[in-house]
Amino acid sequence: MAQSLEVRGRTPAQIRLRRRFLRFVPIRAGGRVLEVGCGTGVVMRDLAALVGPRGDVVGVDPSRSMVEAARALARTHALRRRMRWRLAPGAALPFADGRFDVTLAVTVLLHVADPEAVVREMARVTRPGGRVAVQDQDFGTVAVTHGDRTLTERIMGGVASHMYEEPHSGRRMPALLRGAGLGDVRLLTDVFQDTTLEPFAKSFLERRAENAVRFGIVDAPAAQKWLDGFTELVARGDFVLTFNYYGAVGVKPARSR
Ligand SMILES: C[S@@+](CC[C@H](N)C(=O)[O-])C[C@H]1O[C@@H](n2cnc3c(N)ncnc32)[C@H](O)[C@@H]1O
Repeated sequence: MAQSLEVRGRTPAQIRLRRRFLRFVPIRAGGRVLEVGCGTGVVMRDLAALVGPRGDVVGVDPSRSMVEAARALARTHALRRRMRWRLAPGAALPFADGRFDVTLAVTVLLHVADPEAVVREMARVTRPGGRVAVQDQDFGTVAVTHGDRTLTERIMGGVASHMYEEPHSGRRMPALLRGAGLGDVRLLTDVFQDTTLEPFAKSFLERRAENAVRFGIVDAPAAQKWLDGFTELVARGDFVLTFNYYGAVGVKPARSR
């Protein structure tokens, strides 16, 4: 998992998506920023560069191995002293009210049973006038070329419904922010696109095939035949994989007087 997050993080189309979302939020120099579900720190390292030497970036994750990987990977970062980590779930953040200017969760809420509770906590630890920002993929939007469309839909839909608490989480981002009392909610829709089966897309499809076998959707030979179908399309220059990312940002209302 840690390795696949880093492979994803290095993929040019993903770098563009992530940075476009951070500009949309936006992240300002000198800001105090919290990332909930920081994983190996791909987003945090970008955040540190954006807040700069006067800023402060905190990452929270309930997985000890993720936090350890994030610490190790940040060791050579020029702004490592601006980054800190805490082990905690998003629904119980170990911070005082109003501690951060911006609080984010990137590709986290689709994994969470109660995303409303996480977004409420994110709003609590954000200062009045500060921003809460969330971004998720939406696996109801996957479009991929393959000779067997029916099988592809069965594998994509079946695996996503087993793997994620909410595979269609992306489209719910604005409603989650409004539900937590945030105002001025804005939405940014973006598309991941790959036409060459580069390493992230290749491992994405291989994991779909592995999981399709694990969840009893197809047997191993059928999964392998399905994967071979993509290789043929790539060889002909006809491969296309796209899916949407939805990012939303809202403002915490100022305290009533
Ligand atoms: C797909 S990774 C995203 C990591 C990082 N945000 C990125 O974009 O590279 C999802 C992360 O959410 C974390 N996570 C899972 N459940 C969580 C929860 N209830 N609260 C906070 N983080 C959670 C996982 O441990 C994992 O590190």
